[in-house]
Amino acid sequence: MRRLPPVLIEDGCSRELVSLIRTILAACKEISFRVGQGALSGVLGSTLDENIQGETQKKLDVLSNQLLKDILLESGYVKAIASEEEDYTVAGNPDADFIVAFDPLDGSSNTDINSLVGTIFSIMQAPKDSDPADPAIFMQPGHKQVAAGYVLYGPSTTLALSTGKGTRIFTLDKTHGSFLLTEDFAKIPEDTKEFAINASNQRHWQPAMKNYIQDLLAGDTGPRGKNFNMRWIAAMVGDVHRVLCRGGLFTYPADTKNPEKPYKLRLMYEANPMAMLVEQAGGLAHTGEERIMDIQPNDIHQRVAVILGSKNEVEACLAYHK
Ligand code: F6P
Ligand code: MN
Repeated sequence: MRRLPPVLIEDGCSRELVSLIRTILAACKEISFRVGQGALSGVLGSTLDENIQGETQKKLDVLSNQLLKDILLESGYVKAIASEEEDYTVAGNPDADFIVAFDPLDGSSNTDINSLVGTIFSIMQAPKDSDPADPAIFMQPGHKQVAAGYVLYGPSTTLALSTGKGTRIFTLDKTHGSFLLTEDFAKIPEDTKEFAINASNQRHWQPAMKNYIQDLLAGDTGPRGKNFNMRWIAAMVGDVHRVLCRGGLFTYPADTKNPEKPYKLRLMYEANPMAMLVEQAGGLAHTGEERIMDIQPNDIHQRVAVILGSKNEVEACLAYHK
């Protein structure tokens, strides 16, 4: 089986980009080990702190963030980083070519129940002659990402990665620590009978999403004329992995639960990298109003509605939003 670095070099990635990706993966291997240790190493449970988004931080959120932050900043390959667990961007090497936004441990509430979690990352080019301390260097739409990926810490540790030439899946061989290519060019089926949504928010959704889900639930006697199945892992990384493997529609739509926070998922380190992976595998990623990767960001922690997955099903959902 092929190892990750030669695959990336064949794709034409620069040595710097390959080294940066390998640096991120070095941290992810360590996170994979810590997550796997679970209760044995006392890393489960919460800290007493909240992040800037008002979410209680899990001990593994803090640990994963620190690992990624330290290794990236020490590597010299990044001009700056942005993380879900950092209030502000952090400056790195002024001469570096890249910036990285990441969610160190997506779905971290799952750590306490030994369920799926993962690291999501987005790599962009740093503007030339820019100030590493200026957060404006991150304000680039998702279509400018040079690479995006996630590492899923499940029964096996898997990496989904795109550098703009398709989406590939690698599996960590824990016997010698290499990510080996296990699926070249993932292809999301265009049609599906599976969807993922937190249905407990139903009464807070907008009419378009209410109507769409109602029609899915109506099954083969309803307007869609077929039965649908539902799944919800409560970790975007797990739900998107399922979509990449066998298709489906994943959505976290707008809701009116908290008028100050109509959306849940974050653009820079959740929606954008997942949108790149999904589109590179033949799927679609949209907010209901626009393509996710066309959004011009205005804040590193900004949130968006997300509808992604199998092309024909995303289009069916969008038809309700017109
Ligand atoms: O990071 C946010 C997140 O944990 C996603 O990974 C996941 O899809 C979603 O929130 C789960 O939301 P809820 O708690 O509403 O199920
Ligand atoms: Mn997350």
